[in-house]
Amino acid sequence: MKIEGRGFIVAGGGSGLGLATARGLREAGAQVGVLDLKRGEWDGPCATADVADQAEVEQAIDTLISEIGELRGLLNTTGMGHSGLSVGPGRKVTAAGFRRVLEVNTLGSFILAQAAAERMIGSRSDEHGERGVIVSTSSIVAFEGQIGTAAYAAAKGGINAMTLPLAREFGRYGIRVITIAPGIFETPMFSQARGPMVDWLREQVVYPGRPGEAVEFAEMVAHIVRNRMLNGTVIRLDGAYRVPQGRHDWWVD
Ligand SMILES: NC(=O)c1ccc[n+]([C@@H]2O[C@H](COP(=O)([O-])OP(=O)(O)OC[C@H]3O[C@@H](n4cnc5c(N)ncnc54)[C@H](O)[C@@H]3O)[C@@H](O)[C@H]2O)c1
Repeated sequence: MKIEGRGFIVAGGGSGLGLATARGLREAGAQVGVLDLKRGEWDGPCATADVADQAEVEQAIDTLISEIGELRGLLNTTGMGHSGLSVGPGRKVTAAGFRRVLEVNTLGSFILAQAAAERMIGSRSDEHGERGVIVSTSSIVAFEGQIGTAAYAAAKGGINAMTLPLAREFGRYGIRVITIAPGIFETPMFSQARGPMVDWLREQVVYPGRPGEAVEFAEMVAHIVRNRMLNGTVIRLDGAYRVPQGRHDWWVD
C-alpha cells in the first residue's frame, strides 16, 4: 500500500518506537494521528486513550479519523513490561500485575485491531483490492523468555498467536495483519531499565553489535505497509540476538 496521502494511526506514538514510526510515516507524506496515554514528544494530531479500554479507543480513533481522513493503517507500539519471579524469595509477579500486562499488551492489541478493521471495512479498496494494514508489536521474549518474564512473555505470545487468525479473517476485506517482534531497541522503555542484566544485554546483539535504533523499526513498518505479500506473520527484528536463560538472582532484591 502506498504511504503518501494515506491516513495512519500510531498507537503508542508518543514515545520510542511509535514516535519514530509516526515521524517516519509523516515524512513519507502520510496523514498521521497518535493515540497514546499522553502526547509525549509527538507534535501532530493526538487523542488520548488507554488501549485496554475499548470505549476510549473507539472514541480516540474516531476523533483522529476526523483529522487525518480515511484510516488505512493502524500501527500499535503501545506496551508495558512486568517482571519478577513466580516462586521463592525476591520480586514476585502478582496476579494483578499479570492481569494488567495482559490487558495492555494482548487485549489492547486486539481492541485496536478490531476497531481499526471495523472502520477500514467501510472504506473503498485501492486498485489492488487493499483496504488497510494493521501492525502490532510483540517481543522476541515471546519466543525465548528469560527467567522473570513469564507474564510479559505470555502477553507478547498472545499478540503473536492472534496474528494469523486475524489475517485470515480480515483478508477477505483486503486488510493485512502483521506483528513485529523487536529484540533490543534503544528507547525510553529500554534505557530506563537498570542493572547488570541490562548492561550485559546490550552486548549480545550479534550484528550490528548494538541495540536497534527506533528509526530502524520505523523503516520496517514502512516496508510492511508497502509490501502486499507480507501478511499473517511475525517478523523478528533483532540483529540475530537470542535471549539467553537469565539468572535467577537478578530478580532477588
Ligand atoms: N525497546 C525495546 O527494546 C523493545 C523490545 C521488545 C519489544 N518492545 C515493545 O515495543 C513496543 C514499544 O516499546 P518502546 O520501547 O517504544 O516503549 P515506550 O515506553 O518508549 O513507548 C510506549 C508508548 O506506549 C504508550 N502506552 C503504554 N501503555 C499504554 C496504554 N495502556 N494505552 C495507551 N498507550 C500506552 C506509552 O505512553 C508510550 O508512549 C512495546 O510494545 C514494547 O513492549 C520494545
